[in-house]
Amino acid sequence: MADKPFLTDIKTLRERARKHIEQGAVTEGYSADRETVNKILNEALATEIVCVLRYKRHYFMATGIHAEGVAAEFLEHANDEQGHADLIAARIVQLGGEPNFNPEGLLMRSHAEYVEGSTLSDMIKEDLVAERIAIDSYRDMIQYLGNDDPTTRRMLEGILAVEEEHADDLVSLLGEVG
Ligand SMILES: [Fe+2]
Ligand SMILES: [Fe+2]
Repeated sequence: MADKPFLTDIKTLRERARKHIEQGAVTEGYSADRETVNKILNEALATEIVCVLRYKRHYFMATGIHAEGVAAEFLEHANDEQGHADLIAARIVQLGGEPNFNPEGLLMRSHAEYVEGSTLSDMIKEDLVAERIAIDSYRDMIQYLGNDDPTTRRMLEGILAVEEEHADDLVSLLGEVG
């Protein structure tokens, strides 16, 4: 590899940083389409909130001989999803947007559905479907961002890894509950 120059010279970097300081973390080098990024992050936020609500419902409604262990897993996932929602909301603000917590239209914005399910195994199956939807949509978002917004991409990659663990947990639970 011939002498590959660093992307931007220091003088230009310093000059650019002084302009538009009110935009905080968003610099001129930010090459993603911020409006679109905030829109997809708000969809992810809605998805996470719906997942918190569904897991909480399942946590309180879990009954049967296997209920205790399964309920504990539901609660753990609910807390993880709440953590994801918080990360996403904070990133939206960092990007100069506003996190949408409006309950009106929440299900429309969410990728995953809210299905209560009657039996323990129904609940686990519905959660598994929701996790699989989340996995696919996070993968799409990561691909969309590419190298245009590495911070958001990294955050989403971290969340994606947890959703994959959740799906894996649920498959194991389904095997135990039958
Ligand atoms: Fe999540
Ligand atoms: Fe999850």
